[in-house]
Amino acid sequence: MKLEEVKAAEAKLLLSTYERNPILFVRGEGVHLIDENGERYLDILSGIGVNALGYGHPAIEKAIAEQSRKLIHLSNLFFHEGQAALALRLTEASGMDRAFFSNSGTEAIEAALKLARAHAGLLRSEGKTIGTKVLALEHSFHGRTMGAVAATHKDKYREPFAPVMPGVEFVNFNDVEDLKAKFSTDVCAILLEAVQGEGGIRPVSKEFMATARELTKSTGALLIVDEIQAGFGRTGKWFAYQHYDVQPDVTTVAKPLAGGLPLGAMLCTEEAARAIHPGMHGTTFGGGPLACAVALAVINTIEHDQLLQHVTETGTYFRDALEQLAKKHSSILDVRGLGLMLAIELNSDELAKKVLAEMMKRRILINRTSDTVLRFLPPYILKKEHVDQVIVALDEILTEQAASESERAHTTGGKYVG
Ligand SMILES: Cc1ncc(COP(=O)(O)O)c(C=O)c1O
Repeated sequence: MKLEEVKAAEAKLLLSTYERNPILFVRGEGVHLIDENGERYLDILSGIGVNALGYGHPAIEKAIAEQSRKLIHLSNLFFHEGQAALALRLTEASGMDRAFFSNSGTEAIEAALKLARAHAGLLRSEGKTIGTKVLALEHSFHGRTMGAVAATHKDKYREPFAPVMPGVEFVNFNDVEDLKAKFSTDVCAILLEAVQGEGGIRPVSKEFMATARELTKSTGALLIVDEIQAGFGRTGKWFAYQHYDVQPDVTTVAKPLAGGLPLGAMLCTEEAARAIHPGMHGTTFGGGPLACAVALAVINTIEHDQLLQHVTETGTYFRDALEQLAKKHSSILDVRGLGLMLAIELNSDELAKKVLAEMMKRRILINRTSDTVLRFLPPYILKKEHVDQVIVALDEILTEQAASESERAHTTGGKYVG
């Protein structure tokens, strides 16, 4: 089928959840996606932070081929080798004690929220005073299921589905006083992203993170750090909270975990894990043998190819180049992020839309989030030459846009605000 046929069929047959870009991709190679006409696109989005090893990576292909010949699915009623092996690697990397595997990010968040409620229940049964409230942050995004969406800040995600899970209160972003004011023994968990993704690539401050840790420790509430977008190497460390001097009680990981196969995990301390017993929580597909085998191959490749170091180096190079660009273009208001989780904030959503469209014409895929923020989430295998390609394109586009804006202002007698 060609693009127009697929578009027409989807318009008739699919639930209308996405406004897709008009490109039909048929395969990928390294950091490139290739469309139906054989055109190559530089992918600086990697399936929204999923394809960490890019496309067609031999380690992933090998793990899929070998494991699929042995066992693809097994119910969680029996043992296979993958879950314990993967849990060992993840607990070592995160400093956690135990893992629960899911199929997606939002399910890992559901597991974390249920754990927080169950853990608070256990503490109450032991005589402690602790409630059921969850504190989440302004600009947060945690997923689309009823619990995760309740902790997601933007009204547009929650309101059409009200009532979502009750008992969530939002704290102003990086506002330590607001956090202190809203925290009490009513709270069973603080849920936050160390670096907010959908909210516009915003790192929480060290002070905010430290305060969240102190407050939760003082009552037995859980500190849950959602690493679904920022974790698993994206910022140059296995977990973004490792840039802070803080160890949470619970963390969630998903997107890049199994190199493109659906897999998520909720990792927690032994103390938190006390609250869960057989039958309380579960999943049919989560932690299947195929996804676990691929995740192990991804971890081995990240280690073998020293990709954390590579992400740090390439991320620093990318960020420096964006900062240089910001000095030249006053339309760039801010440069943010860590490792290969980067963004520039522009001075208008119209400009952000135009830049996105122009980048696509130049066959470079980036993404816009929070209206004015251009987000860069490339595969970890990105090279400096690819960064240069992105920077040259952005420079050209921002220069052109400033020139046409200036011309418009001139002809209309208006004032140009670059
Ligand atoms: C920080 C964060 N948490 C949770 C999710 C939800 O993950 P999923 O789409 O796999 O359910 C996302 C997805 O973008 C995310 O960025």
